[in-house]
Amino acid sequence: MTNAPTNHASAEATYPKDKIPAIRRLMMPRDTNALGTIFGGVILSEIDLAAAIEAHRWHPSKVVTVSMDKVEFKQPVFTGDLVSFFTETKRVGRSSITVHVSVWAERRFGGGSAVHVTEADVTMVAVDDNFKPTPVLRPNGPSAS
Ligand SMILES: CC(C)(COP(=O)(O)OP(=O)(O)OC[C@H]1O[C@@H](n2cnc3c(N)ncnc32)[C@H](O)[C@@H]1OP(=O)(O)O)[C@@H](O)C(=O)NCCC(=O)NCCS
Repeated sequence: MTNAPTNHASAEATYPKDKIPAIRRLMMPRDTNALGTIFGGVILSEIDLAAAIEAHRWHPSKVVTVSMDKVEFKQPVFTGDLVSFFTETKRVGRSSITVHVSVWAERRFGGGSAVHVTEADVTMVAVDDNFKPTPVLRPNGPSAS
C-alpha cells in the first residue's frame, strides 16, 4: 500500500501471470448484450466486487462503494472468455480504501491470447451499523489487527 499515485502503464502492458486475481470468471451467454458480446454492466459489477474483496482485507466488516473513476473499455469481451480481475490497494485513508482494478480477458476459456479490457480506481468506505463512515480496522495492513 502506498499513499503515492501508482504508475500502472507498464503493469498493464502484459498479462500479470505472476499475480493472483481477486476474481476469475468464465463469460457465458447469459452475460451478453443485444449484440452478442459481453454486457459492460457485467464487467462493472465484477470490478465492484473485486474492489470490495480487496477492501475487506483492510476492513473485514461493512464497506460500501462511494466512487468508481472513468472506465474505458479498450477491447470487447466474448462468450467463452476467461476474465480476471486483478486488484491493488492504492490508498488507505481514515475511512476510505481506494483499489485499482485491472481487467484481462483470456480468449477461448483461457487457452487463447490475453487482452487488457479495462481498469478502474474504486473507492470503498468503511461504514458502521448506521452506514456512517467509520475508521478502517486494519490501517497498517491486511495482516495487522
Ligand atoms: C459512502 C458514504 C457513507 C460517505 O458518506 P460521507 O458523508 O460522504 O462521508 P465523508 O464525507 O465523511 O467521507 C468519508 C470518506 O469517503 C471519502 N469520499 C467521500 N466521497 C468520495 C468520493 N466521491 N470519491 C472518493 N472518496 C470519497 C472521503 O474522502 C472520506 O475518506 P477518508 O475518511 O479516508 O478521509 C455515503 O456517501 C453513502 O452512503 N453513499 C452511498 C454508498 C452506497 O450505497 N454504495 C452502493 C451504491 S448502490
